[in-house]
Amino acid sequence: MSSGLFDLTGKNALVTGGAQGLGRMIAEGLLRAGATVVITSRKTDICEAAASDMAPLGKCIALPADLSTPAAAVDLAQRYRDTVGDALHILVNNAGKTWGGTIDTFPDKAWPSVMMVNVQTPFTLVRELLTELAAAGTPDDPARVINIGSIAGATTAKLSAYSYAASKAAVHMLSRDLAGDLADRNINVNAVLPGFFPTSMTAHMRDHEAVDTALLDKIPMHRMGRADEIAGTVVFLSSRAGAYITGAEIPVDGGIVGCS
Ligand SMILES: NC(=O)c1ccc[n+]([C@@H]2O[C@H](COP(=O)([O-])OP(=O)(O)OC[C@H]3O[C@@H](n4cnc5c(N)ncnc54)[C@H](OP(=O)(O)O)[C@@H]3O)[C@@H](O)[C@H]2O)c1
Repeated sequence: MSSGLFDLTGKNALVTGGAQGLGRMIAEGLLRAGATVVITSRKTDICEAAASDMAPLGKCIALPADLSTPAAAVDLAQRYRDTVGDALHILVNNAGKTWGGTIDTFPDKAWPSVMMVNVQTPFTLVRELLTELAAAGTPDDPARVINIGSIAGATTAKLSAYSYAASKAAVHMLSRDLAGDLADRNINVNAVLPGFFPTSMTAHMRDHEAVDTALLDKIPMHRMGRADEIAGTVVFLSSRAGAYITGAEIPVDGGIVGCS
């Protein structure tokens, strides 16, 4: 194996929702691998504090954005160009929204906002940043788009999160569709499907750090995922080691999808 296989020095990355949760784990991993990382958060103070906290790991830039409209994605792309420049090597569409409720009362309002944040604005961001992604990619080292999906979009997780599961299945298919269309522009597109990680999205499944044993029983490896495991997958896909992978859906889930 040649050295520097996972080195991202000189690359620019944009991680939506990179201030907190899984996005923060991913941003830290990309910084440790040498990339310059732009993060978003809806709140300016949270975004700037996160960028400042991560500064010891590398160059981290805060671009606050509420990605609940396509116009916000267009605006974020323009601010990326103004702040960082004309090359984007790694785009991680991580920002996501969920909504839980029983089937009998699941509200119609739980659909548009979830589909917007989880599917449409990731698409708009890719479309608006095509020039920067194409400028960064080469046949041997393409630019990478990594869409954070979910096992909820690939298996019946029984979470009563109907619009969320449908949105994640949609973003998996969107990733494959984009991968086929963008391969000739030297842009790889993959979906990463996390299982259960300890973030605010799964807080209702935990009592402090104690995880619901019924949940752990559903995971072949009987534990939640760790920061290094989601970050490592994204670093691998972003690196020279992942250059030949496009159109893939990669579960990082302790075996839930693969063993079912
Ligand atoms: N945790 C898990 O076990 C798990 C499993 C499968 C998939 N995922 C996926 O992983 C991704 C991150 O989720 P998480 O677990 O880290 O949950 P989280 O802690 O609730 O984080 C959600 C992230 O999305 C951002 N976000 C939400 N709405 C947004 C909006 N309108 N505009 C911009 N950003 C917005 C949040 O940013 P701010 O709050 O800072 O604005 C935050 O960074 C999501 O796509 C989620 O579906 C997570």
